Amino acid sequence: VLEANNARESLYVVSLYAANYFANELWTGEQGRAIGLSYFKERGFREDIIKKFELGYSPDQWDALILSAASAGHKEEYLEKTGLAIRNEKGKVYDRFRGRVMFPIHNFTGRVIGFGGRTLKTDKNVPKYVNSPESDIYHKSNVLYGLYQAKKAIRDLDNCYLVEGYADVLSVHQANIENVVASSGTSLTIEQIRLIGRFTQNVTILYDGDAAGIKASLRGLDMILEEGLNVKVVNFPDGHDPDSYMHKVGAGAFKIYIENNRKDFILYKADTLLKEAGTDPIKRAGIIRDIVESIAKIPDDIKASVFIRECSHLLQVEERMLMTELNKIRSAKF
Ligand code: UTP
Ligand code: MN
Ligand code: MN
Ligand code: MN
Ligand code: MN
Repeated sequence: VLEANNARESLYVVSLYAANYFANELWTGEQGRAIGLSYFKERGFREDIIKKFELGYSPDQWDALILSAASAGHKEEYLEKTGLAIRNEKGKVYDRFRGRVMFPIHNFTGRVIGFGGRTLKTDKNVPKYVNSPESDIYHKSNVLYGLYQAKKAIRDLDNCYLVEGYADVLSVHQANIENVVASSGTSLTIEQIRLIGRFTQNVTILYDGDAAGIKASLRGLDMILEEGLNVKVVNFPDGHDPDSYMHKVGAGAFKIYIENNRKDFILYKADTLLKEAGTDPIKRAGIIRDIVESIAKIPDDIKASVFIRECSHLLQVEERMLMTELNKIRSAKF
């Protein structure tokens, strides 16, 4: 029986086994090739990207992984503890991931700690992604999808792109931008921002161009500012996400788009909120306050005053008035 010298280690061992099993099914399984691999190819993913992220396929049956792991000597107990297998009320154990393309999730040292599995069905009643649950080795709020593959580029380029989903990470890599991670499955946490902060102080948000993505990026930028990091935002047109936009315009044009449409957070926030407010003067005043509230989150006073000046130019409001507002917000906080 394959068992490591402690329980946590055994969870890593069985997770790695599962990742290899799913990848093997994708590349050599009859179903995997016909359904899984062709799915990735139809979406436009290159083979080198599929391999780099160790993508896989879980066969559409109740016990494919369970049987394979058992024959290789893995204890069912560990499959259950990683959430790869589920035990129902009657005590029957079955595979969590069935008939899905698989995205292994690594910690930043490269060990497999969990999975996301995407359905191939278009049925709205089927959840699009199923994810591993929390376990002794997988704490979602502390993990960024793609960080293991991105960390060197994040350090070298001194910037980290932040996207919403698994496919976005793959597509941005395919456009030769390797400094990208996703908060996938959870909304961005303080722990994830601090994790980025170990590699760079500069974050660029590339969230989906839909209402949910815009809301999440406004919330995300405030949290990033509060942690003392610098933040910029790129938005995508017509509800596109980085993945769909990259495949629409191509890798070269995508890279140029990112470079030309990077806005600092004030400009992004002003543009976004002004669009919503229209010409209503009261709403416009509310926007000024809202932007100063973001600036008030910046711990560094010098940086904050630089952004106050920028805000004053951008919104045609006296700097002195903005400073008064800033001080009001700050003193209310303490
Ligand atoms: P999206 O709905 O934007 O999906 O959710 P996506 O990444 O663009 O997926 P594709 O392109 O259709 O394959 C963003 C992220 O939120 C998580 C996933 O991590 C997803 O990548 N999510 C979404 C879930 O965990 N479960 C879901 O049912 C949907
Ligand atoms: Mn723990
Ligand atoms: Mn979305
Ligand atoms: Mn999306
Ligand atoms: Mn998408």
